[in-house]
Amino acid sequence: MKDTRLENNKIINPEKDIATFRKRIDDIDEQILELISRRLSAAQAIGQIKQQAGITVVDDRREGEIYQRLLSLNQGAVKTGSFYRIFRSIIAAGRGVQNQQSGAGEPPIYAVFGDPVGHSLSPAMHNSALAQAGLDGFYIAIRVKDLAAAVSGIRGLGIRGASITIPHKISIMKYLDQVDSLAADIGAVNTIVNRQGLLCGYNSDCAGAIKALAENTILTGEDVAVVGAGGGARAVGFGIKQEGGRLTIINRTPEKGEKLASDLDCEFKPLSEVKQLPYHIIINATSAGMTPNDNSVPLNTDLLESEMVVMDMVYNPLKTRFMAEAEKNGCIIVDGVSMFVQQGAVQFELWTGKKAPLDVMRKVVLDELSTP
Ligand SMILES: NC(=O)c1ccc[n+]([C@@H]2O[C@H](COP(=O)([O-])OP(=O)(O)OC[C@H]3O[C@@H](n4cnc5c(N)ncnc54)[C@H](OP(=O)(O)O)[C@@H]3O)[C@@H](O)[C@H]2O)c1
Repeated sequence: MKDTRLENNKIINPEKDIATFRKRIDDIDEQILELISRRLSAAQAIGQIKQQAGITVVDDRREGEIYQRLLSLNQGAVKTGSFYRIFRSIIAAGRGVQNQQSGAGEPPIYAVFGDPVGHSLSPAMHNSALAQAGLDGFYIAIRVKDLAAAVSGIRGLGIRGASITIPHKISIMKYLDQVDSLAADIGAVNTIVNRQGLLCGYNSDCAGAIKALAENTILTGEDVAVVGAGGGARAVGFGIKQEGGRLTIINRTPEKGEKLASDLDCEFKPLSEVKQLPYHIIINATSAGMTPNDNSVPLNTDLLESEMVVMDMVYNPLKTRFMAEAEKNGCIIVDGVSMFVQQGAVQFELWTGKKAPLDVMRKVVLDELSTP
């Protein structure tokens, strides 16, 4: 059956069509309501049986299994982020009827602070991860202009953990009670853990980049070039030095590149002087190629040769022009999503103490990026 009647590509009776779809939605909602009510009754019955038998009522593992089974049935029909949003509410309602007498506390809140932050993929990724791990809690995006007030908000509202993104990764440090030694060396914090009111800062970009690279190559003793001299380059540069890689910083603005190379005690090369790439691993830590500048590349891609490992920290678009050309030249490519998901997994583990469901996190991010 055709859903809309078109004549010369024009809808001929919009009011009637809208009414038809609204009726369909009303009918479906009635069916959903009936099904949810039956599901809640079953959950309540299980809760009563468990209480009588002295068994712990909420079972995180069982919740994880429910998501896993439903996800395999979903087959892309509902976007993974939306899938988790919907079933999380249903499963939380089931948990609610079981928990009524158990006096469970308020769910923890997590947030990303940035400006802008509207297009952040972190809420979809972390909310799905919390659901998959069977954990209560919500992760929200907050646009922050007044950072001092926002940090007071973490303390005042008892926000359990926060991601910090552009432009606050450096300025956040002075408001924290403790900064982990690696984050202090890097000079940037992108993760806050609230330990009973003590705010501790970490840098998960560094570990995220190194984990994404480690899935594809070793770093010890390898020649590595990082293009860029901003916060991302700083984080990955520290990680490479820690892993024993031989690092060179390449940057468009020599002064900034020289400063970073001096902080990292490594070589520096101005971008304008790069005529060959005598490195095994090349990392783009610039914003070149990021939407809307999809056509831009950080350096001349004719210099990329097969057997090189090429990583792009940019993850929007999913496959940058730099990645596509590196792949064409036979390089092993590591996309920015791998780093993004790995750094998110480090955050998740710091906040919850549980292993992060990496597969689900990656799937959600890929889904969000692949549909407009
Ligand atoms: N995948 C992840 O998890 C992840 C994590 C962090 C960051 N990132 C991404 O990494 C990129 C860099 O982030 P950042 O925080 O380091 O940014 P940043 O601090 O603003 O630094 C940007 C760097 O890019 C260079 N640059 C910008 N446009 C360029 C161009 N057209 N050609 C050559 N160099 C160019 C700048 O060079 P000059 O010094 O000459 O200005 C600067 O060194 C962003 O796209 C960000 O989204 C991804």
